[in-house]
Amino acid sequence: MISNQRKKDPIFRTVVVVVLILLLAACSSQEGESRQVTAPASTMMPGHKMGDSNMISAVKTPKVPFKYEAGNKKFQKMCASCHGQWGGGSEQGPPLMHLFYVPSHHSDAAFYNAVLKGVKQHHWTFGDMPPVAGTTSRDVEKIIAFVRWLQRENGIR
Ligand code: HEC
Repeated sequence: MISNQRKKDPIFRTVVVVVLILLLAACSSQEGESRQVTAPASTMMPGHKMGDSNMISAVKTPKVPFKYEAGNKKFQKMCASCHGQWGGGSEQGPPLMHLFYVPSHHSDAAFYNAVLKGVKQHHWTFGDMPPVAGTTSRDVEKIIAFVRWLQRENGIR
């Protein structure tokens, strides 16, 4: 706790003002970016149900081109139970059609790691993602192609 005595101290006040200015500068310097991928803490809890500005309003479900069908099938079998049929999320897992998972923030390597090794809970409150049993890196490659295509269709690129 800061005593009232301390609050009146002019040096202390100056320090507080300087810190505030630095904080403001740090925040506004990020405004130039076209897209903010880091949501404020309040939107991370619990899951995607709260007003999350990084969440897209409705997931588009376009016809899957033939070349992404193999990935689509594997996604439905191995991922959709938690991440939703179209990557829109579920009670068990977060939406992948979300600005967190834009390729510049979660690279393909993050997908390999997640699927083959699992993920500790960090962005959401769904719990950990367990490694997906029986998947090979070939499967993940196909799944990534499908997910990235669907993300592009949804303006996440
Ligand atoms: C049992 C539920 C479950 C299944 C099945 C599942 N996931 Fe996840 N996944 C999660 C949860 C929960 C998280 C969020 C962890 C966090 O950030 O809090 C997650 C996070 C991720 C992430 C982000 C990793 C990171 O570095 O933050 C990727 C990528 C991912 N999942 C891909 C997949 C793919 C691809 C599949 C299918 C092969 C899959 N998941 C299957 C529950 C699941």
